[in-house]
Formats: sequence, C-alpha cells, structure tokens
Amino acid sequence: MAEKIRVMIPEKEVDEKIEELGKKISEDYAGQEVHLICILKGSVFFVCELAKRITVPVTIDFMQVSSYGAETKSSGVVRLSKDLDEPLQDKNVIIVEDIIDSGRTLNHLVKLLGQRHPKTMAICTLLDKPSRRVVDVEVKYTGFRIPDEFVVGYGLDYDQRYRNLPYIGVIEFID
Ligand code: IMP
Ligand code: MG
Repeated sequence: MAEKIRVMIPEKEVDEKIEELGKKISEDYAGQEVHLICILKGSVFFVCELAKRITVPVTIDFMQVSSYGAETKSSGVVRLSKDLDEPLQDKNVIIVEDIIDSGRTLNHLVKLLGQRHPKTMAICTLLDKPSRRVVDVEVKYTGFRIPDEFVVGYGLDYDQRYRNLPYIGVIEFID
C-alpha cells in the first residue's frame, strides 16, 4: 500500500508553539533549574528545540520505553529498554513526550519516576489526543490537542520512518 503525508501542523506553527512552551517553562521555574527527561525516540526533536528556548539552567537525560511495534495502535504494554543515567533526587523534573494517546506510557512513567524522589515532576507534551485517553494523566504543558488521527513527523514515526519531517503530518494509506 502506498503512503501519503498530509500536513496537519506546519513547521512554523510547531516552532512558534515550542517557543511559547519554552517561555512558559522559563517563567514557571524562574530562579530554579529544570531537568528534562526525553522519552526516546519520539521526543528527541522536541526536547532539543524546547531546551534551546528555556532560559533557566537545563540538564537533559534520556530514557526509552516502547508500547508500539510497527502498528498504529497501542499494545498497552510499556517496556523500559533504556533507563536514565542520572538520579532524580531533589530535581525539578519535566518529562518531555512527543504525544499522549491512551496515557498508559506516561501513567507508568510518572509512577516509576515518582519513586526516585524528584523535588517536583511535571509533564510537557507536544501533542495530545484527548479522545483516546484510557488512563488519566495530569499534563502541565501541552503544545497541540489533535483529533484521533495517526500522525508522523517532528520525531514521530510510522515503523521508524518519517521522524525527520519538520512538520506534523497525517499518514494516509492509498491502495
Ligand atoms: P500511550 O501510552 O498510548 O499514551 O502512547 C504514547 C506513545 O505512543 C507515544 O509516545 C508515541 O510513541 C506513540 N504514539 C501514539 N500516537 C501516535 C501517533 O499518532 N503517531 C506516532 N506515534 C504515536
Ligand atoms: Mg513516544
């Protein structure tokens, strides 16, 4: 089946939104430091752009979890394949996600990371599909709320492809 990408959120709008989120985080954490947790691989483009726009001191760590294979539906199984390098003790942790779908991944991560005694913990996501939520999660910073469509680009993949698109697109299958 052939695939076609339709632009949902153009590059300029994504960039402006990240600028806004960076400004908000800088204001909220004025006089403090933030520790960004990038959830690999999808959040890697977002975390870089976001970090560049935060004006308080920033540290970054990475962890990898997966709940998807080459499918467009969540398996509901969250697997930790790379843990953080640094402890979270007394840090202002911000978990940076590309997208929240069922909420299962973040629900699991909040519980896991909460046990490591951060000073504060918040979630920042570029995209949210609220209509798909199965598990409730409290999100402090949201870029865009989008309808229930499978999106790619800006770090998001379909079977590992399309992460490098500089915009958010919808994948369409044509036969
Ligand atoms: P959740 O656990 O169902 O909230 O799933 C979150 C993860 O599923 C995200 O971090 C993505 O890796 C993946 N995901 C959910 N929706 C999409 C999508 O539309 N495109 C690409 N990946 C997605
Ligand atoms: Mg992800």
